[in-house]
Amino acid sequence: RELVARIRAEHGDLPLPAGLADGGGEMLSRWRALRDEFLHLQLLYRFGIQEMSTKIDILRQEFESVYDYSPIEHVRTRLKSPDSLFAKAVRQGTDLTVAAIRAEVRDIAGIRITCSFVSDVYWIAEMLATQEDLTVLATKDYVAAPKKSGYRSLHLIVEVPIFLSRTVERVPVELQIRTIAMDFWASIEHKLHYKYSADMPPHLAAEIEDAGRLAADLDARMGRLRDEVRPSPRHPDD
Ligand code: GTP
Ligand code: MG
Repeated sequence: RELVARIRAEHGDLPLPAGLADGGGEMLSRWRALRDEFLHLQLLYRFGIQEMSTKIDILRQEFESVYDYSPIEHVRTRLKSPDSLFAKAVRQGTDLTVAAIRAEVRDIAGIRITCSFVSDVYWIAEMLATQEDLTVLATKDYVAAPKKSGYRSLHLIVEVPIFLSRTVERVPVELQIRTIAMDFWASIEHKLHYKYSADMPPHLAAEIEDAGRLAADLDARMGRLRDEVRPSPRHPDD
């Protein structure tokens, strides 16, 4: 109901679909125009995911064919659903216009890359960040500085150009790069958090944070093992 009120406040008498019948032609066409704008927005971010996925897949295939080792374990993509996009825009006080949403919600397109080792996390980030057509808009290093919850991951917002028939559109894509241990922790924590929503008992929160430290220890240990077994892979040009 709050969302409906907000949409009405931002767009005057723009009706919701149920009320369209009594709204008349003008309101109907405004609603359609807005809906079309949002469909176009979704399409752009889907293209953003496709472009970034191709880049990541090219790196993965190159690693698999040229080296005997790939730092990329798996990749998952997601496009924010219209519901959670609206919910986030309302939550952070973003105007419910396509322009404002494009400027202020930067995780509409999301890609999660899971790596074997912590060093791979930075390695992959570096390989993508230095690609000529990409612009890094923001970096949050929750590996070096974990969140209070115990969350660790390297986050990058990269802007990727999308070449359309008449224009070039630049869309931000959120990259979450993490190790298998970080991913294991985050997926369990997410489930527990979801179950308890806001009222997570303090002893559980402390336990989860501690499990995060264990995951970090495991990463450190695996890194040491790897260094002992073989030197870190280098690009032939190095
Ligand atoms: P959002 O509004 O959630 O996108 O957060 P933000 O804009 O403050 O960005 P931040 O970099 O903190 O988090 C972005 C994303 O990282 C989240 O949507 C989650 O996918 C993930 N994330 C951040 N913190 C946590 C955490 O404590 N636990 C888990 N499981 N995931 C987290
Ligand atoms: Mg998010």
